[in-house]
Amino acid sequence: MKLSHFGRKFTARTGILSLMDDLGRALSGSERTLMLGGGNPAHIPQMNELWRRRLEEILATPGAMERMLANYDPPQGNQVFIEALARLLNRELGWPVGPENIAVTNGSQSSFYLLFNMFAGPGPEGRQRILFPLVPEYIGYADQSLDAADFVSIRPSIETIDDHTFKYHVDFDALRLSPDIAAVCVSRPTNPTGNVLTDEEVSHLDRLARDAGVPLILDNAYGLPFPGMIFSPATPVWNENMIVGMSLSKLGLPSVRTGMVIAAPEVIEAMTSCNAIVALANGSVGQTLVAPLLDSGDIMRASREIIPPFYQQKSEQARQWIAESFGSDIDYAVHKSEGSLFLWIWFRNLPITTMELYERLKRRHTIVVPGRYFFFGLDQPWDHRDQCIRVNYAMAEADVREGIAVIADEARQAITKGI
Ligand SMILES: Cc1ncc(COP(=O)(O)O)c(C=O)c1O
Repeated sequence: MKLSHFGRKFTARTGILSLMDDLGRALSGSERTLMLGGGNPAHIPQMNELWRRRLEEILATPGAMERMLANYDPPQGNQVFIEALARLLNRELGWPVGPENIAVTNGSQSSFYLLFNMFAGPGPEGRQRILFPLVPEYIGYADQSLDAADFVSIRPSIETIDDHTFKYHVDFDALRLSPDIAAVCVSRPTNPTGNVLTDEEVSHLDRLARDAGVPLILDNAYGLPFPGMIFSPATPVWNENMIVGMSLSKLGLPSVRTGMVIAAPEVIEAMTSCNAIVALANGSVGQTLVAPLLDSGDIMRASREIIPPFYQQKSEQARQWIAESFGSDIDYAVHKSEGSLFLWIWFRNLPITTMELYERLKRRHTIVVPGRYFFFGLDQPWDHRDQCIRVNYAMAEADVREGIAVIADEARQAITKGI
């Protein structure tokens, strides 16, 4: 193939590709695999009940199925859905947004692809970059720009909470918004760590971004008002200098591929133009399923009463299993679990890298994600990136429990043998 620069970049073997490959193989293979690697949300019976009820309502309403499946929506998104989302954001969070502040995309992964490439790369005054003020950060961002040099990131400071718990913070002393920075981006809650940036950290980032005249992109795929996978107090904020990414995926609808962007009207117009070029329109199924539930209160009830307790209980349970399996000979710490569906484990005395640990675990049909992929954009090597793994704790309980025992066993063997 005579590949272009774009072709070479987007056909390369990336972390996200091997992750999705492992995930697909684990879910479709005949061997039992303990899949603690992917980002799939859990199948929560009450949520599936809600989707089933909506599908039945659509089928029973004359013309509704045809409108959902047989029409292109405008590239900004379905008006009924957008208006209902604006009402919900006004009502629940007091955000002063209208339909002109919302664009729909084919999943928030696509939102970030468009946003990063809108802001990063060669610009009129030279190269423009996206700044990630705290890595480890979401693996899915890592390869989205045409050139790896488009991303810059900063190591966090590490707070030790107790012998086996730590938390990352933005290192504001190291953070500088040089003139080449065109946007700042963080996920809150953060994939892979379950970190939730404090309100002070968010307002400090907001101030720095405004002073530099660039937007703060805040990825709210796990946050408030929905899906509400957040277990520590945090104020959801938006202003015209912020671009907030949202998604229907973690409500339990990853396959409808629906993302939303909340931003100033000029950003929404730009996203709409991009959508028209790359996709014509967005899929309508997710928007049609969810729109009436935004007004009826069902989504908010689920995001308060069903989703957060479900994930919090699973997170605490997995922490307990880790404590039981890891004992005192493995020197480890887990990031404070404040949201999302992952635990981030830091091995402090492993004689091998977590990439090697990942390979050994894979041979035992246990899939995790090695830490290295989440540290893109750093200009200096850092041992820490080969000392961590991400574990999805939201899969079937028996798998998570057994998977944690296998991880402990492999780590222990490596420590005992010294290799
Ligand atoms: C932080 C974060 N942002 C964005 C996404 C993309 O989600 P989707 O494209 O399904 O909306 C994910 C998926 O796991 C994520 O973890």
